Amino acid sequence: MKIKNICCIGAGYVGGPTMAIIALKCPDIKVTVVDLDKDKIDAWNGELDKLPVFEPGLKEVVEKVRNKNLFFSTEIDQSIDESEMIFMAVNTPTKTEGEGAGMAADLKYFIASAKQIAKASNSNKIVVEKSTLPVRTAEKIKEILEKEGKNAVKFEILSNPEFLAEGTAIQDLFKSDRVLVGGDKTNSGKIAVQSLVDVYANWIPRNKILTTNVWTSELAKLASNAMLAQRISSINSLSALSDKTGADIDELSRAIGMDSRIGEKFLKVSVGFGGSCFKKDILNLVYLCRYYNLDIVADFWESVVKINDFQKNRFSEKVLIKSNKIDEQHITILGWAFKKNTNDSRESASIDIAFNLLLQNKKLFIFDPMIKKERVIKDLNERFNIEKSKEFNELLKNVFVNDTIEEALEKSRIACVLTEWDEFTKYNWKNFLDDDNFIFDGRNILNMDSPNYFKL
Ligand code: NAD
Ligand code: UGA
Repeated sequence: MKIKNICCIGAGYVGGPTMAIIALKCPDIKVTVVDLDKDKIDAWNGELDKLPVFEPGLKEVVEKVRNKNLFFSTEIDQSIDESEMIFMAVNTPTKTEGEGAGMAADLKYFIASAKQIAKASNSNKIVVEKSTLPVRTAEKIKEILEKEGKNAVKFEILSNPEFLAEGTAIQDLFKSDRVLVGGDKTNSGKIAVQSLVDVYANWIPRNKILTTNVWTSELAKLASNAMLAQRISSINSLSALSDKTGADIDELSRAIGMDSRIGEKFLKVSVGFGGSCFKKDILNLVYLCRYYNLDIVADFWESVVKINDFQKNRFSEKVLIKSNKIDEQHITILGWAFKKNTNDSRESASIDIAFNLLLQNKKLFIFDPMIKKERVIKDLNERFNIEKSKEFNELLKNVFVNDTIEEALEKSRIACVLTEWDEFTKYNWKNFLDDDNFIFDGRNILNMDSPNYFKL
């Protein structure tokens, strides 16, 4: 079956970039990205320099295809009805209440959009799970679509998880290591799988498009993120031991990674991994393991998150010890995004570090090239989770968000580098160090030879 119209529900970090690339590579397909959030849709339709998602190379792609075969709209029902294939790319955060709170994925947005697909569809649809989901979600979605959809309308459900990383999304989408399509082994299932394979085959070599059953595909996504995060926690745990023994963690990482069986990628030590997915997906995996009474397996994966918290606390502790020793109450935080080249700060290590320092009454001067004051304050509000509390409002008065590195460094003797932005590597740190100030490098990117410079 040849696809001519695609609808994608969710115009976020996944929906926006992935659909822009599909539109670019498949000029014969009309792609419409829909969202409940009108401001977001307006921003996608607005100035190219102010798109809601910052990704190197994204605005150039959007410029080429927007209003040609790529459209952004709030007309969700209409777009569903006129499309043969519907991608679901809504957010699936960790549940905050009810059974599984703090661990399981919250499927309320996903279920709401499944219900909307059921109601708005007047012809057969291929529904593609693009969001990251617990294994066997497709079963639940099928139930909803069959129960709430019109009698004559048939739905095929595919799993097609997304593996892009923020900051490199466009190059990841152009040259994916693999594309995974999970579907039923029935005849109609196979036809649906082939339709989606044909879409990707416009630019992805066939041998990189893997077709599996739905459950493998759903689990492969959670497992891939868990394996990646596990490598970071492994190297971060060893940074604590290196610190005690005099080993150099960067040399250690290089030595380990040169074993071709291990490989060098994802062994870069850090102040802790962030981003909207690693923690939530591992917790989801842990929840699934416990659900199936696999407690030892659950404990194994949970420790990846525990090491990540340990690393953030270890870093905060070091900074606090130094600041108390030199009686300095001001601390500069350089970097709020969870990695460079993104405007996303979800679960950024900076939030936890700032939280730890604020609790010790430190005054913070924060700078990030892509993240503005409102976002920083919103993140801290959520972290404290006590928005209206007096204590927090008092502590919030100690947060200053600056427009330049210089401004952020002006009033403090301690700088913490928490995101690996090129601006920080290129900055001339000589004067700052010459004034007997201190740098805590949470990314090991500055490599300075000074007793006042602290690596991980
Ligand atoms: P996001 O929060 O950036 O975007 C989700 C969008 O869905 C939001 O704009 C929201 O308004 C919209 N939405 C929610 N419910 C809706 C509804 N009922 N109808 C219409 N729109 C609705 O999230 P994201 O980062 O793009 O992640 C989406 C999914 O993809 C998640 O499951 C995530 O785990 C997964 N994922 C994310 C990344 C990443 O790098 N961010 C990578 C791979 C997979
Ligand atoms: C990650 C995965 O890499 C993607 O494949 C996946 O699609 C995505 O999650 C998702 O499901 O959301 P992302 O979180 O965007 O992508 O970015 P990563 O490059 O994986 O970085 C995550 C965090 O780990 C960042 O804070 C980064 O600084 C940190 N990191 C990464 C390290 O500390 N060390 C490393 O060696 C690599």
